[in-house]
Amino acid sequence: GTGASGRTVVADDADIERVVVSDEEISAKIDELARQVAADYADVDSVLLVCVLKGAVMFMADFARALGRHGRPVELEFMAVSSYGQRTTSSGVVRILKDLDRDIAGRHVLVVEDIVDSGLTLNWLLKYLASRSAATVEVVALVRKPEAVKVDVKVRYIGFDIANEFVVGYGLDYAERYRELPYIGVLRPAVYSRG
Ligand code: XMP
Ligand code: MG
Repeated sequence: GTGASGRTVVADDADIERVVVSDEEISAKIDELARQVAADYADVDSVLLVCVLKGAVMFMADFARALGRHGRPVELEFMAVSSYGQRTTSSGVVRILKDLDRDIAGRHVLVVEDIVDSGLTLNWLLKYLASRSAATVEVVALVRKPEAVKVDVKVRYIGFDIANEFVVGYGLDYAERYRELPYIGVLRPAVYSRG
């Protein structure tokens, strides 16, 4: 059958009110971004992708493979920071839950972010990476909410600009759920009141 994603029904489709970015749109955009990044980084020895867990994990996996298809090998690193807990608005307080495993001095770092909302998390992260002496630090974010931006952060590659509403899926969660959805969408209001 066909569900909210316009394709195969997946578990949790029933909790989604509206699809904001479909899985087809996500894969097409990832391919486009990867082509652009592969071209921009054609002359450097190595590129280090830094994934911000957990939300960016789906994007990281698909983006890294797309870069490979476009002839750009990469290395993968993971960081986990906490800015929200289970709340749906930004506190601006960032805590490192998992740090980088390696020295990034002199490396070309590309931060892979799921979503730029207020920009507070990213702003903090960019300062942190710069303090670790990376040669270059750029950001690729799958989704951005332009109306929510509180600090002006330099995001070189952006997948989609979306309205200022809370979204889940493709790595993004509400109380740790819905990350496995293949698309990005808005939850039905009833989901929040039953929590
Ligand atoms: P800020 O406001 O610091 O937020 O740019 C960045 C982090 O907050 C989370 N975030 C969301 N998570 N749906 C989610 O599931 C959303 O609509 C949303 N907006 C922000 C996310 O972890 C992001 O990295
Ligand atoms: Mg979250």
